[in-house]
Amino acid sequence: MEKYNRRFFLKLSASGVGLFFVYMWNKLSLSHNELVKPKVLLFPFNRNKAVSFLKDFIVINKKGKATVLSAHCTHLGCSINKVENGKLVCPCHGSEFDMDGKAIKGPAYRSLEKIPARVNSEHTQIQIDV
Ligand code: FES
Repeated sequence: MEKYNRRFFLKLSASGVGLFFVYMWNKLSLSHNELVKPKVLLFPFNRNKAVSFLKDFIVINKKGKATVLSAHCTHLGCSINKVENGKLVCPCHGSEFDMDGKAIKGPAYRSLEKIPARVNSEHTQIQIDV
Protein backbone atom coordinates (compact mmCIF):
# COMPACT_ATOMS: atom_id res chain seq x y z
CA MET A 1 0.00 0.00 0.00
CA GLU A 2 2.97 2.28 0.51
CA LYS A 3 3.43 2.27 -3.25
CA TYR A 4 0.03 3.94 -3.93
CA ASN A 5 0.19 6.96 -1.65
CA ARG A 6 -1.46 10.36 -2.08
CA ARG A 7 1.40 11.70 -4.22
CA PHE A 8 0.97 8.83 -6.65
CA PHE A 9 -2.75 9.59 -7.11
CA LEU A 10 -2.05 13.30 -7.54
CA LYS A 11 0.47 12.55 -10.30
CA LEU A 12 -1.98 10.15 -11.90
CA SER A 13 -4.76 12.78 -11.80
CA ALA A 14 -2.46 15.48 -13.19
CA SER A 15 -1.47 13.16 -16.04
CA GLY A 16 -5.12 12.46 -16.79
CA VAL A 17 -5.98 16.15 -16.85
CA GLY A 18 -2.94 16.82 -19.08
CA LEU A 19 -3.97 14.08 -21.50
CA PHE A 20 -7.51 15.45 -21.57
CA PHE A 21 -6.24 18.92 -22.54
CA VAL A 22 -3.96 17.48 -25.24
CA TYR A 23 -6.92 15.50 -26.60
CA MET A 24 -9.21 18.57 -26.59
CA TRP A 25 -6.53 20.78 -28.18
CA ASN A 26 -6.09 18.24 -30.95
CA LYS A 27 -9.85 17.92 -31.44
CA LEU A 28 -10.39 21.69 -31.57
CA SER A 29 -7.50 22.32 -33.95
CA LEU A 30 -8.78 19.61 -36.30
CA SER A 31 -12.27 21.11 -36.36
CA HIS A 32 -10.74 24.58 -36.85
CA ASN A 33 -8.86 23.27 -39.90
CA GLU A 34 -12.15 21.90 -41.25
CA LEU A 35 -13.74 25.32 -40.78
CA VAL A 36 -11.01 27.33 -42.50
CA LYS A 37 -10.37 24.83 -45.28
CA PRO A 38 -11.25 26.47 -48.60
CA LYS A 39 -14.36 25.05 -50.21
CA VAL A 40 -15.11 24.68 -53.86
CA LEU A 41 -18.65 24.83 -55.20
CA LEU A 42 -19.65 23.58 -58.62
CA PHE A 43 -22.59 24.99 -60.55
CA PRO A 44 -23.79 24.43 -64.09
CA PHE A 45 -22.59 27.22 -66.37
CA ASN A 46 -24.90 28.60 -69.03
CA ARG A 47 -22.69 30.26 -71.60
CA ASN A 48 -25.73 31.77 -73.34
CA LYS A 49 -26.91 33.68 -70.27
CA ALA A 50 -25.33 37.08 -69.50
CA VAL A 51 -26.25 37.08 -65.80
CA SER A 52 -27.03 34.10 -63.57
CA PHE A 53 -28.02 34.20 -59.93
CA LEU A 54 -26.67 31.15 -58.09
CA LYS A 55 -27.54 31.11 -54.39
CA ASP A 56 -25.05 33.58 -52.89
CA PHE A 57 -23.34 34.41 -56.17
CA ILE A 58 -23.92 36.38 -59.33
CA VAL A 59 -22.19 35.06 -62.45
CA ILE A 60 -21.57 37.70 -65.09
CA ASN A 61 -20.80 36.18 -68.47
CA LYS A 62 -19.10 38.53 -70.89
CA LYS A 63 -18.48 36.67 -74.13
CA GLY A 64 -17.60 33.42 -72.37
CA LYS A 65 -15.44 35.08 -69.70
CA ALA A 66 -17.14 34.62 -66.36
CA THR A 67 -16.84 36.94 -63.40
CA VAL A 68 -18.37 35.92 -60.09
CA LEU A 69 -19.61 38.49 -57.58
CA SER A 70 -21.06 38.03 -54.15
CA ALA A 71 -24.84 38.44 -54.28
CA HIS A 72 -24.80 40.04 -50.83
CA CYS A 73 -25.43 43.76 -51.05
CA THR A 74 -22.71 45.78 -49.36
CA HIS A 75 -25.30 47.99 -47.67
CA LEU A 76 -27.08 45.57 -45.30
CA GLY A 77 -26.53 42.22 -46.96
CA CYS A 78 -29.75 41.58 -48.89
CA SER A 79 -29.51 39.16 -51.78
CA ILE A 80 -29.29 40.91 -55.10
CA ASN A 81 -31.51 39.02 -57.48
CA LYS A 82 -32.38 41.15 -60.46
CA VAL A 83 -31.00 43.13 -63.35
CA GLU A 84 -32.65 46.33 -64.54
CA ASN A 85 -31.36 48.41 -67.43
CA GLY A 86 -28.04 46.59 -67.36
CA LYS A 87 -27.53 47.18 -63.63
CA LEU A 88 -27.66 44.83 -60.67
CA VAL A 89 -30.35 46.15 -58.31
CA CYS A 90 -30.77 45.36 -54.64
CA PRO A 91 -34.44 44.70 -53.81
CA CYS A 92 -34.19 46.07 -50.26
CA HIS A 93 -33.20 49.72 -50.55
CA GLY A 94 -32.51 50.12 -54.25
CA SER A 95 -28.72 50.20 -54.41
CA GLU A 96 -27.39 49.67 -57.91
CA PHE A 97 -24.17 48.09 -59.11
CA ASP A 98 -22.64 47.92 -62.55
CA MET A 99 -21.75 44.57 -64.14
CA ASP A 100 -18.28 44.73 -62.57
CA GLY A 101 -19.88 45.01 -59.12
CA LYS A 102 -19.04 48.69 -58.63
CA ALA A 103 -21.59 50.60 -56.56
CA ILE A 104 -23.19 53.28 -58.73
CA LYS A 105 -26.21 54.22 -56.63
CA GLY A 106 -26.56 54.18 -52.84
CA PRO A 107 -27.17 53.63 -50.08
CA ALA A 108 -24.46 51.00 -50.71
CA TYR A 109 -21.13 52.65 -51.48
CA ARG A 110 -18.78 49.64 -51.52
CA SER A 111 -18.40 47.39 -54.54
CA LEU A 112 -19.64 43.81 -54.52
CA GLU A 113 -16.98 41.31 -53.54
CA LYS A 114 -15.34 39.46 -56.43
CA ILE A 115 -15.14 35.71 -55.88
CA PRO A 116 -12.41 33.57 -57.47
CA ALA A 117 -13.91 31.18 -60.00
CA ARG A 118 -13.08 29.13 -63.09
CA VAL A 119 -15.14 27.76 -65.95
CA ASN A 120 -14.22 24.25 -67.03
CA SER A 121 -12.80 23.62 -70.51
CA GLU A 122 -16.16 22.38 -71.86
CA HIS A 123 -17.86 25.58 -70.60
CA THR A 124 -20.48 23.48 -68.79
CA GLN A 125 -19.55 24.08 -65.15
CA ILE A 126 -18.26 26.91 -63.06
CA GLN A 127 -16.10 26.22 -60.03
CA ILE A 128 -16.38 28.86 -57.30
CA ASP A 129 -13.84 29.08 -54.48
CA VAL A 130 -15.40 30.11 -51.20
FE1 FES B 1 -29.09 46.51 -50.44
FE2 FES B 1 -29.86 48.11 -48.50
S1 FES B 1 -29.39 46.03 -48.38
S2 FES B 1 -29.58 48.57 -50.56
